[in-house]
Amino acid sequence: MRTTSWRSFAAATVGLIAGVNAQTGQLTDLGTLLSGQKNLTTFYGLIQIDLQKYPQILLQLPSFNGVTILAPNNDAFDKIPYSSLNNAFKNNDQDVITNVLEYHILQGTRLAAQLVPGTPVFIPTLLTSPEYTNVTGGQNVQNVEQAGDVVVFVSGLGSRSTLTQKDLSFNGGVVQVIDSLLIPPANLTDTLNAFNYTAFEGGLYASDLVETFTTQPNVTIFAPADSAFQALGPAIANMTSDELATILDYTILPKIVYSTGLTNGTKFLTQQGENITILHSGNNVYVNSAQLIQADILIANGVLHVIDNVLNPQGPGAQPNPQLATQVPAFASASSIDFLPYTSAIPCTVSCPVSSTSGSSSITRTSSVGAQSTGASTGTSTTSHSSSSSKGLAAAMARETGFGAAGLMVALGGAVLMI
Ligand SMILES: *[C@@H]1O[C@H](CO)[C@@H](O)[C@H](O)[C@H]1NC(C)=O
Ligand SMILES: *[C@@H]1O[C@H](CO)[C@@H](O)[C@H](O)[C@H]1NC(C)=O
Ligand SMILES: *[C@@H]1O[C@H](CO)[C@@H](O)[C@H](O)[C@H]1NC(C)=O
Ligand SMILES: *[C@@H]1O[C@H](CO)[C@@H](O)[C@H](O)[C@H]1NC(C)=O
Ligand SMILES: *[C@@H]1O[C@H](CO)[C@@H](O)[C@H](O)[C@H]1NC(C)=O
Ligand SMILES: *[C@@H]1O[C@H](CO)[C@@H](O)[C@H](O)[C@H]1NC(C)=O
Ligand SMILES: *[C@@H]1O[C@H](CO)[C@@H](O)[C@H](O)[C@H]1NC(C)=O
Ligand SMILES: *[C@@H]1O[C@H](CO)[C@@H](O)[C@H](O)[C@H]1NC(C)=O
Repeated sequence: MRTTSWRSFAAATVGLIAGVNAQTGQLTDLGTLLSGQKNLTTFYGLIQIDLQKYPQILLQLPSFNGVTILAPNNDAFDKIPYSSLNNAFKNNDQDVITNVLEYHILQGTRLAAQLVPGTPVFIPTLLTSPEYTNVTGGQNVQNVEQAGDVVVFVSGLGSRSTLTQKDLSFNGGVVQVIDSLLIPPANLTDTLNAFNYTAFEGGLYASDLVETFTTQPNVTIFAPADSAFQALGPAIANMTSDELATILDYTILPKIVYSTGLTNGTKFLTQQGENITILHSGNNVYVNSAQLIQADILIANGVLHVIDNVLNPQGPGAQPNPQLATQVPAFASASSIDFLPYTSAIPCTVSCPVSSTSGSSSITRTSSVGAQSTGASTGTSTTSHSSSSSKGLAAAMARETGFGAAGLMVALGGAVLMI
């Protein structure tokens, strides 16, 4: 059904593209650019209009003042690391693939030369569906330039993609070619599983905080490593769920703070109501008296940092001793135990081992922990969710009304033919 609104939509889109084109000179359109790249035929095949696969993602491009498309090369599609993501591509899972492709489009035109070596930047993408992310304004990708001019993009579950061909400009932005797919960040529980931070995860179940921590939009979580829980022993293992909840609420901030925001001396108000304080000493970063041991693990609703000590909201002034490799526990009467507290609270879904005594370290949730399958089923997830996201619906509507094709032809440079 071709209506007036269709015409005005198409006209508006053409105007926008033409404007960009006028500003940037002789730049080619995306379709022409991609069709000339031998290493990008798989990616081009996914968004090319006449192949009718996932061109709808391009409809969004004109709404941004320039985008950066991280285009995985052909090799990348042959070595997708997670089985469920692999299956999604094998089975043409519309919902998953659309969202994965959106995660490959960064807001803003980012040229490789704009990166400052060693300083990561966190760049919002076009991935916004709450089914896949609760980072409002678009899930982020971490971008950093490492020694030897190696440019890396870090995505979910610590996945790393390396830039192999830079700055292919087109009239709506730039294409950067990468050697492996970006993985949309998984939710908190799947991420904790993949990295084996199980005591913290168990504590969330034991205190009934899993839902909040996993779905609350825009959060920063400082998860103590398993060894931190073990070091406390009786000081934490026998807490009531309310007591435990207070401890855990002291690990979450109601906003996203990547490592770059953890500056020396800054205080952050936690969900529990007390502040935590950041301290830098030499190359080390501390949160109260806990050392930051792994920063910037992207999760579906924000970011996860791992620390080596459990934080105590009753001692918010705790300071580290930077001379020590391991900080002393922040709780009185701590003594080390050899099992992982709270892990028995984690519901077991796949081939569960027989549980012996409660809280026993023998509970290891073996199969669900394998990053290969968990990771996959996580951020990219939901091969079984056949329902479309709202965006999927919009795209379907666009296809029916003809909006879609028009916008796409414009985006890919075929506007003249259509209109
Ligand atoms: C295309 O891929 C091949 C093999 O992966 C590589 O050797 C070549 O440099 C790539 N071409 C460009 C232009 O990057
Ligand atoms: C985002 O939050 C909503 C609840 O507001 C939840 O249903 C959804 O599963 C969350 N998305 C992810 C990826 O966790
Ligand atoms: C959520 O975090 C992102 C990234 O830090 C930010 O751009 C966005 O404005 C935040 N949204 C809200 C509602 O705070
Ligand atoms: C997590 O534990 C499993 C089983 O012990 C192991 O195979 C896997 O390599 C561990 N993963 C990480 C990231 O340490
Ligand atoms: C928990 O409390 C019980 C009873 O006081 C005690 O026997 C047990 O050893 C305690 N567990 C830990 C890990 O301290
Ligand atoms: C938290 O720190 C801020 C300063 O950054 C301060 O204004 C506020 O009073 C502190 N809150 C608490 C509960 O100590
Ligand atoms: C961080 O701030 C503290 C207190 O102001 C100061 O003593 C320390 O030297 C600073 N650390 C770094 C690495 O600058
Ligand atoms: C996290 O995502 C997985 C799907 O990968 C889902 O099964 C699980 O319920 C989610 N966790 C929470 C707490 O929502």
